[in-house]
Amino acid sequence: MSSQEITADALDVGRFIQTSLDELASVVGNDSAVCALSGGIDSSVVAYLGHRALGKRARICFIDTGLMREGEPEAVAGAFMVLGIPVERIDAHEEFLYALRGLTDPEAKREAITQAFYRDVFGPLFKRLKARFLLQGTNLTDIEEAVAPIKRQHNVLAQLGIDPEKEYGYRVLEPLMRLRKPAVRKVAQALGLPAAIVDRRPFPGPALATRIIGEVTPELLWVVRKATRIVEEELSGVDAFQIMAIVHSDKVTGVRGGRRELGYQIEVRCWDSADAVTATPTELPFSVLRKLGQRLTTELVNVVSVTYNIVSKPPSTMEAV
Ligand code: XMP
Repeated sequence: MSSQEITADALDVGRFIQTSLDELASVVGNDSAVCALSGGIDSSVVAYLGHRALGKRARICFIDTGLMREGEPEAVAGAFMVLGIPVERIDAHEEFLYALRGLTDPEAKREAITQAFYRDVFGPLFKRLKARFLLQGTNLTDIEEAVAPIKRQHNVLAQLGIDPEKEYGYRVLEPLMRLRKPAVRKVAQALGLPAAIVDRRPFPGPALATRIIGEVTPELLWVVRKATRIVEEELSGVDAFQIMAIVHSDKVTGVRGGRRELGYQIEVRCWDSADAVTATPTELPFSVLRKLGQRLTTELVNVVSVTYNIVSKPPSTMEAV
């Protein structure tokens, strides 16, 4: 398959959808496919295409990694339920926590997440479902960043020299590999996906693990999950590409009630971006930032410091890991 870009402007949406449906039907044939749904726009588009092309032979699976945001598994299943498409929720909390145990290096964590997904979770799942194909929403930016190399994206395999069929026993199909976010959004709209999916801010497959600097532990997951809810609530009206809370595993010195208190530091990032290739921090009013600081340090008693990222991508990247 060619990896030459189809820009949003050049995209003939109707033709793209029809070609994708035809290709999926002819490649999968009478076999079955697993559609890996995370709830983001990319994987939602692919799951919907899979469902339309293959009907019941497309098993839409949500892998509950235990790294997702509050209420996310239920929200994703609910959004597809509305479309009349059942979603199978696969509980994989333990596999992911185990894979990430003791790891602090960002790329080692990303590699562990890849293995947890493809070997530990999809491996047995494909055997159970007797499926041969994995449909996933890798887009062109994911591929370019992994190959650059900027970040090993959790879902980029072939381009990194990994042969999924040989390594894991199934073939990977990536209908969106020539598109970036704005083009994917056009496809989502044309497919008639609901606004909750089309307008959803991007959220990475490795989820909150990309927002913990240091080892991913249940305690830090709890902190970053709560902080994420507060930040997303407070900034819900802001027109930004992505909004995130990041936690540093090293504690910093704070003071409460006249006594030293070691606590966590949360970094808030809010990005303006068209396609995630470059990004700039949103110029939030200081009153908004102050309110965020107040909420994060009162609702989360073990947080003593809150910072706001003021650096663009590059040299920053959007996620901390
Ligand atoms: P970075 O952090 O590389 O992120 O500037 C660019 C965009 O990609 C998302 N991202 C990922 N998405 N799997 C994904 O599905 C990944 O491994 C991954 N890493 C980063 C990130 O949220 C941002 O939108």
